[in-house]
This record gives sequence, C-alpha cells and structure tokens, in this order.
Amino acid sequence: MRLKGKRALLIGAATGIGRACARDFARHGASLVVADINETGLVETVALAQEQGASAHGLVCDVGQEASVREAVEQAESLLGGLDTLVFLAGYMRTGAVDQFAAQTWDAIFDVNARGTFFAAKHGAAALRRAGGGSITTTASLAGLRGAPGMTAYAAAKGAVIAFTTALAQELAPDGIRVNAVLPGWIDTPFNTPAIEYMGGALPHAEIVRRAVPLGRQGTPQEVSPIYVFLASDEAGYITAKAMMVDGGMAH
Ligand SMILES: NC(=O)c1ccc[n+]([C@@H]2O[C@H](COP(=O)([O-])OP(=O)(O)OC[C@H]3O[C@@H](n4cnc5c(N)ncnc54)[C@H](O)[C@@H]3O)[C@@H](O)[C@H]2O)c1
Repeated sequence: MRLKGKRALLIGAATGIGRACARDFARHGASLVVADINETGLVETVALAQEQGASAHGLVCDVGQEASVREAVEQAESLLGGLDTLVFLAGYMRTGAVDQFAAQTWDAIFDVNARGTFFAAKHGAAALRRAGGGSITTTASLAGLRGAPGMTAYAAAKGAVIAFTTALAQELAPDGIRVNAVLPGWIDTPFNTPAIEYMGGALPHAEIVRRAVPLGRQGTPQEVSPIYVFLASDEAGYITAKAMMVDGGMAH
C-alpha cells in the first residue's frame, strides 16, 4: 500500500502503460481519476481499478484542448477532495521520412505529447499547490534522448517533454512538488505499430530489438508501471528532476 491516501489523476490511461499504472495505483491504495480520449478503454480501465478495491472514476478528456484538460483537473480535484498526484501518459506517434512528413502530422504529435504535458502541468500544478504539494510524473521516451529513423517528430516532442520536466521540477520544488519523467524503451503495446511499419514489419523490428536491447526483448506495460508507483510514493521524496529509463538496458 505504497500510495495509501494519495489522490491521483492519471491522464492517458485508457490502455497500455497507463492502464497498468491505474491497476497498480489502485492496488497500492490510491484513489484515482482516469482521463482519456478513448471512452471504451476508459470504462475498462476504471473497472480494473475498482476490482482492486479502489475508488476510481473515468473522465473523457482531449489533451490537445486546454479547456478539456483544465476541466479534467477541476473535476478530479472535486471528485477526490483534492489532488496530490498527477501522472501524464497520453502519447501519439506517427513515423515517416522527414522530407515527406506533413506539417499537420508534426503538429498532431506535438499537440498530444508536448502541449498536452504542458496543459496538464499548468492546471495540475495549481491543484497540487492547493493540496500543499505532491508529485507530477510525465512520460517521455528513450526516443526523446536518442531518436530513431522515421521518428524525428516524435523524438523532438519527447525531447521537449524531458526538457520541460527538468525545468518544471526546478520551478515547483519550492512548493513541495516533485516532477520526474519516465522514459520507456521498447514496450509491447499497439502504440508502436507505426514504428514497426517504418522498420519493415514485425521480423525486422524483432531483430532490431534483439540487437539494441541487452535484455533481448520488449518490456511489458506491467514492467513499466512500478516506476510510476515509486515516483508517486513518499519513498521517492528526495527524487525530482529525473529522467527514469525503463528500457531493458538499451541506454548504457
Ligand atoms: N510503447 C512504447 O514502446 C513506448 C515507448 C516510449 C514511450 N511510450 C510512451 O508511453 C505512453 C503510453 O504509451 P502506450 O505504449 O501505453 O500506448 P497507448 O496507445 O496504449 O497509450 C496512449 C494513451 O494516450 C491516449 N491519448 C492519445 N491521444 C489522446 C488525447 N488527444 N487526449 C487524451 N488521451 C489521448 C490514448 O487513448 C491511450 O490511452 C505514451 O506517452 C508513449 O509515448 C511508449
């Protein structure tokens, strides 16, 4: 019960890593609100959290729209009686050669990953201040440090998330708010379909993973969620402004 008494808003948690986080936050005693644009996935995630005995609510939210994020934060604060934990997991990826990449696709990638993180932090920080402190965890990617062919826009957006997180941690430290980023490596979710297609399909992708990842395989969402639990817990009380990689040893 590492999160007993914590009141958490998880944004972008209808599927994948976020869903695993919702289950783990619930198991560890947090009460939570899950916000996402995917209404069907949201219902399943909330049910999964409730099965762990937690109080859990779902809110439809589009992180590309500031008003929608502000509303989700306000509703979460009111449903939970305050907010001390914010986790941002929403992500969007498209791949393509830079000379053929549409500006509209570039913008869509920045809207969800970078602007979404900004909107969540902007409105979340105010709520966490009202609670007297807490923690914010963002989600970047190893791609935000190293990039990869076909991923220029996604890498740039996740690089922005890392820089934003580091700056925000320094800005909010005086308010007792810790801010960290999680950087997953290759995690097995349908999110990577555009990357796998760019690499020529499942077989070349598997070979790239085998060569690049010392542990020789992709991770699972359940192998990433524990770091989010730890960062949100009081055990991480002296950890802020960090980029925490969960990547099977890929960055070494
Ligand atoms: N899977 C990986 O290998 C990997 C690697 C590095 C980083 N990540 C990051 O981890 C996070 C979770 O990815 P995942 O693999 O679980 O994929 P996922 O597709 O299961 O999760 C992404 C979530 O973001 C939500 N989302 C997308 N656009 C949204 C919007 N406009 N408003 C609200 N919610 C929106 C989706 O509905 C989904 O629930 C993402 O930020 C992703 O960039 C994933």
